[in-house]
Amino acid sequence: FYTSQAASPVYSQVGSDDEYADIDWDAMEFGLTPTDYMYTTKCTQQEDGFPQGQLNRYGNLELSPAAGVLNYGQGIFEGMKAIRREDGQIVLFRPEQNALRMKVGADRMCMPSPSVTQFLDAVKQTALANKRWIPPPGKGSLYMRPMLLGTGPILGLGPAPEYTFLVYASPVRNYFKEGSAPLSLYVEQEFDRASRGGTGGIKTISNYGPALRPLMKAKTKGFSDVLYLDSVNGKYVEEVSSCNIFMVKENTISTPPINGTILPGVTRKSIIEIARDLGYNVEERPIPVEELLEADEVFGTGTAVVVASVGSITYHSQRVEYRTGDNSVSKRLMSTYNGIQNGVMEDNKGWMVEI
Ligand code: COI
Repeated sequence: FYTSQAASPVYSQVGSDDEYADIDWDAMEFGLTPTDYMYTTKCTQQEDGFPQGQLNRYGNLELSPAAGVLNYGQGIFEGMKAIRREDGQIVLFRPEQNALRMKVGADRMCMPSPSVTQFLDAVKQTALANKRWIPPPGKGSLYMRPMLLGTGPILGLGPAPEYTFLVYASPVRNYFKEGSAPLSLYVEQEFDRASRGGTGGIKTISNYGPALRPLMKAKTKGFSDVLYLDSVNGKYVEEVSSCNIFMVKENTISTPPINGTILPGVTRKSIIEIARDLGYNVEERPIPVEELLEADEVFGTGTAVVVASVGSITYHSQRVEYRTGDNSVSKRLMSTYNGIQNGVMEDNKGWMVEI
């Protein structure tokens, strides 16, 4: 299955407690840095779930050209992070949420999915085996990509006969080249991200390829990312290609509802809970783009993006600016979110999982 032929390591022998990979942690961005190990397991369409997987050296996959994922896009993925705290603990943030979301996506894409327990085990094994790649506290995180792929060959349109569940990892830091500076978003009107009855609500690989043309168009014009509107009316705000979107008006925080076209982000869900705990009124409701232009603040949320304040939105030729900086609501939400993850704030919801 692998082109790199390394013996499967014994789990307890991989990873090292006190060793860091020899890279410049300060120069790191959100890009792929290959790490040591990846987790893999395979099953057929007939089998009742995936057998226990194994860690192998990180390397290329060998696939049939007729693999379902290559021909018909039968694949979904997750994004999650392992964080190293000041006291040396390694923690994951609500990993069961990713496991559950993968199950929903797998069902939509006619794929068998790993159990929640198996998913969590795979992610923990991958994080610990690559421990030396988990950045020092405050210098980023180890981003993990659990992937569920139809790897068996199929020519006529149908579910692949064989599936692979794998987890690979890469240390990352800021998603946007802007770092933590505010984003400039461009409201896309020619292209849609998701359609009613489509797959916008799951994390399928086939949602992302079509987002490249609009993204490149926006970047060429100097914007950070694209903000999509709904495909039926072209009127309501949906999400950014890399994250969910929120707006703040006085004490009310609003975000589009989960209705099948919007990705149910784990960060989105957590920020809603944090905001309510902090006393904000939070609404999940359709937001007309005109209303967004009247907001005090706008921010995006996502695993890769974390909480990203938006400095401006351009709609047609109108450019609107928003409050950002230390006194912003998004900054307060981000501090709480990061505080819970880093362990400097109490995790009274039991979100953090120590591994
Ligand atoms: C994530 O936030 O984990 C994602 O998968 C978004 C992707 C565009 C990097």
